[in-house]
Amino acid sequence: MTRQIRTAVFPVAGLGTRLLPATKALAKEMLTVVDKPLIHYAVEEARAAGIDRFVFVTSRGKSVIEDHFDFAYELNQTLDARGKKEAIESLADWLPPAGHVAYTRQPSPLGLGHAIWCARHLVGNETFAVILPDDLVLSKTPCMKQLIDAHACTKGNVVAVMEVPREQTNRYGILAVGDDDGRLAEVKGLVEKPAPEDAPSTLSIIGRYILLPEIFTELGRFERGAGGEIQITDAIARMIGVAPCHGLRFEGERFDCGDGLGFVRANIAFALARADMRPKLEEFIHQRL
Ligand code: UTP
Repeated sequence: MTRQIRTAVFPVAGLGTRLLPATKALAKEMLTVVDKPLIHYAVEEARAAGIDRFVFVTSRGKSVIEDHFDFAYELNQTLDARGKKEAIESLADWLPPAGHVAYTRQPSPLGLGHAIWCARHLVGNETFAVILPDDLVLSKTPCMKQLIDAHACTKGNVVAVMEVPREQTNRYGILAVGDDDGRLAEVKGLVEKPAPEDAPSTLSIIGRYILLPEIFTELGRFERGAGGEIQITDAIARMIGVAPCHGLRFEGERFDCGDGLGFVRANIAFALARADMRPKLEEFIHQRL
């Protein structure tokens, strides 16, 4: 029997240099798409997948994330005094219960793999999920739920994947593919940011992972990869042959909100997906164009 995946790790210690100056004093993960911060979407997605333990790997300047997921006494009192019951209920609805949120820090940005390793004691000896909040996915079924369902069949590491243009392989972790049913692809190898001519395929990893706890041993070797960083892709690659590894072509559209254009696209797509905004926004876009 597979044990339920209870914990999600959110690595949020990056500097967000591509979005400067917006991210100079503001955590990238607190940038809003329509009316919710990126990190809020990430936690919602995890909860919708049945996860109820949330581990944030933060760094200096990110304490606003802690405030976001904490009870705000003055705000509640003010809303109460103004009779705004609905707002109070909605806040209570999405706040994770006490004791279900944990924070740890990555002392310096040594890479995504290192950030995940920093969460090892909070995750323990369990299979866990990783969500990168700057990768936002618009889908019918939450992307993380799709990964968890795939893991229930494969029992190994699972990464969310999508096709990218060959000239962009040097931005992603790329799969060497074995058996492939068009949705779930067996991973034979992984290369971080290969040049287009060296890429074994154009199937690339986006920011959703299901990882076995043995990954922490691999990450603890502190092997530096592309860009001199400790890469999660390299650690997963070293587990191939020891544990099953699959790439899931998830249903949905992914937006790279760590990049200016991707962030604007996400705002438009998420606003158009909202029944209360779509008609007026469509009208506005038509007028502008
Ligand atoms: P990015 O590659 O987007 O890096 O990290 P970044 O620093 O956030 O942004 P740029 O490239 O400077 O604009 C992908 C995810 O991994 C986390 C980031 O917070 C983001 O969620 N990360 C990355 C860490 O937590 N620690 C790291 O050392 C590197």
